[in-house]
Amino acid sequence: MAAPGGTPPIPPYPPGVDTPEQEAEYDKLRRRVLWSLPYGLYVVGSRAGERRNLMTLNWATQVSFEPKLVGIGVDKHAFTHELITAGGVFSLCTVDREDRAIVRKFTKPVEVDLAAGTLNGFAFRDGLSGAPVLTQAVAWLDCEVRQSVDTGGHTFFIGEVVDCGFQADEETPVLRMEDTRMNYGG
Ligand SMILES: Cc1cc2nc3c(=O)[nH]c(=O)nc-3n(C[C@H](O)[C@H](O)[C@H](O)COP(=O)(O)O)c2cc1C
Repeated sequence: MAAPGGTPPIPPYPPGVDTPEQEAEYDKLRRRVLWSLPYGLYVVGSRAGERRNLMTLNWATQVSFEPKLVGIGVDKHAFTHELITAGGVFSLCTVDREDRAIVRKFTKPVEVDLAAGTLNGFAFRDGLSGAPVLTQAVAWLDCEVRQSVDTGGHTFFIGEVVDCGFQADEETPVLRMEDTRMNYGG
């Protein structure tokens, strides 16, 4: 998902970028450089009380060896943001590279069917923290939020891994951003 078109250029600018045209040009260049960063692609589970969600996300990384911390950047407008803020937990799931279509299934709040045990028709189970874990995930990390860093339009939620596992062969190639034609960021 590209940054919304038509948004004005965002400072700061390096020396030599002075006119509105140069600013617009630099803004585009910076976006392309940011899009060129390699990323994984994940499904994030969130929960507050009986409200659950799964969301497609690429802004994820480990941020500490000890303790075992993982950070995710979540849009403040996302339902996932509301749930993680209220519930203090999230799961981070990797997906088989063959399951690319899943990316489009989790870009808005899911339909919950607790009787069937599905979110948007995809089977899930609740992890130790309570956050939903996608049954078809290759691997999953179950996290409790330790810090929430306000980064502007997003919050960087830093969670400690309280449980994790594989649900498929460990060698299964997992989905990366480059497997889609989409951009997020820039
Ligand atoms: C390929 C791809 C990557 C995305 N990466 C992120 C991300 O890193 N952070 C984020 O907040 N939203 C990301 N999104 C957008 C969310 O999936 C979603 O559309 C939006 O945040 C609303 O989710 P919600 O169901 O929690 O309301 C991405 C979407 C796509 C298609």
